[in-house]
Amino acid sequence: MIDVLLGLQWGDEGKGKIVDYLATSYDIIARFQGGPNAGHTLYVNGQKVVLHTIPSGVFHAHCLNLIGNGVVIDPVTLKKEIDTILALQPDMLSRLFISQRAHIIIPTHRALDAASEASKGNDKIGSTLKGIGPAYMDKTGRNGLRIGDILADDFEARYNRLKEKHLQLLNQYEQVVDWQAWEEDFFKAVQYLKQLQIINAEYWLNNQLKQGKKVLAEGAQGSMLDIDFGTYPFVTSSNTISAGVCNGLGVAPTKIKDIFGITKAYCTRVGGGPFPTELMDELGEAIRKEGGEFGATTGRPRRCGWIDLVALKYAVMLSGVTKLIVTKADILDAFKPVEVCVAYDVNGTVTEDFPYDVCNATIKPIYKQFPGWENPTSKSTSQENLDPAFISYCNFIEQFIETKIEYISNGPGRDQLIHLK
Ligand code: GDP
Ligand code: IMO
Ligand code: MG
Repeated sequence: MIDVLLGLQWGDEGKGKIVDYLATSYDIIARFQGGPNAGHTLYVNGQKVVLHTIPSGVFHAHCLNLIGNGVVIDPVTLKKEIDTILALQPDMLSRLFISQRAHIIIPTHRALDAASEASKGNDKIGSTLKGIGPAYMDKTGRNGLRIGDILADDFEARYNRLKEKHLQLLNQYEQVVDWQAWEEDFFKAVQYLKQLQIINAEYWLNNQLKQGKKVLAEGAQGSMLDIDFGTYPFVTSSNTISAGVCNGLGVAPTKIKDIFGITKAYCTRVGGGPFPTELMDELGEAIRKEGGEFGATTGRPRRCGWIDLVALKYAVMLSGVTKLIVTKADILDAFKPVEVCVAYDVNGTVTEDFPYDVCNATIKPIYKQFPGWENPTSKSTSQENLDPAFISYCNFIEQFIETKIEYISNGPGRDQLIHLK
C-alpha cells in the first residue's frame, strides 16, 4: 500500500518536516519527481538539515529510502548531500536505493538553464538554475543519460555526445556560464555514485508492496508548479500531482491509498509567475519576516500572501487529496484579522474555478475575513487547547475544500504537530 504526501501550493509547504514526522509509520519513503530544485527542511536533534534529492525518511533507522525513476539527479549535489547526512546518520547508505532509470543532470544542463533564463529578461521563470528543465527536456526528447548508464564502459562517450548537442544549443546564447569548471567534480561524483545501490526500482518496490511494506511517496515542489496543471509556463518540468507517483515510481494507481495534501495557513511563491493573493505591501513583508520566508535551496525571499482556497480546491481535486495538513499556523498568530480568498473576480466575472489564462487575466481575489485568535496556536499541544476562533477558521477551510484537516503544524520541530480527531 502506498500513501502520498504532496504540496498543494507553489512549493515549500513544509513537506520535509511532515514526511520526517510521518516516517515512523512507514517502511519506505520514495521520491517520485523533481530533483535538486527541491529544498526540504527538517530538524535532527535540533540541527537544521535541508534535503534536495534524498527522501526525508533518511533520519529514521528503520526506513528505506528510494530515489525513483521520475527524479532527475545531479551527481554533485547528491554526493554533497550524502556527505552531510553521513555525518549525522552513518548507516544511511545501506538504506538508500536509486532507480537505474532516474535521469542525470550534467554540467551543460545547468549552463543551458542559466542561458535560457538570462535570455528571457523580464519573462524569466525564476528557475532554481539546477538544470531541471533541460534535463527533463532531454528525457522526453529521448537524448538523456540515466543513472544506470554510469555503470556502462562507454559512459564517457555517451556523456560527450550529449555535451556536444548542448554546446551547439549554447552557441545561440550571449551569456554562457563557465560550465567546464564543473566537469571535474561531476566525474568525481559519478565515480562515487557507482558504489551505491542502483537498482531495478520498479521490481524492487512492487516486491516490497507484495510483502506488505508501507510506502510513503514524497512529492517535491507543489501542485501549482505542475507541468500540466500549474501556472504554465511559470512551472517546473515534472508532474507534481498524485498522478506523477505512478510514472515516477512504476506502481499502479490501484496501489495508492491515502493522499496527504499540505498547505501553509497562508501562501508563498518563489520565482516568477502569477500569484493572485500576493500582498505587495507591508503586510506581505510582515508575513515574510514572521514566517522566515526565504528559499531553502536558493535563499531568495519568497513572495507572500493570504491562503488561496480557489487554487487549493483545484489542487485537492487534481490529486484526490484525502487528508489535509495545514502548516505554519503559528505564523498567523501574529496577524489580526486573517483573510482567506474564496473566489476570483476575473476580468469582471466572479468564479470559484482556477482560470486557464491565469498569466494574462486580471484577477482580483475576493476575501472572507476572520478576526484572528487570542490564544496563540504555537502554545497549543492538543486540539483541546486550540482557540475556538482558530477552530472556526479551520472548519471554514474544511467545508470550502470538502476535505478533512488531519494535522495542524505549529512550529518547525518534528513534534510540533496537532492531530485533529
Ligand atoms: P518543503 O520544501 O515543503 O519541505 O518546505 P521548506 O523546507 O522549503 O520550507 C518550509 C519552512 O518552514 C522550513 O524552514 C521549515 O523548517 C519551516 N516549517 C515547517 N512547518 C512549520 C510550522 O508549522 N511552523 C513554522 N514556524 N515553521 C515551519
Ligand atoms: P520544494 O520541493 C518552491 C520553482 C522555482 C521556479 C520554478 C521552476 O522545496 O517545495 P525549476 O528550478 O524547477 O526550473 O524552477 O519552480 N521551484 C520551487 N519553488 N519550492 C520548490 O521545491 C521549488 N522547485 C522549483 O522557484 O519558480
Ligand atoms: Mg522547499
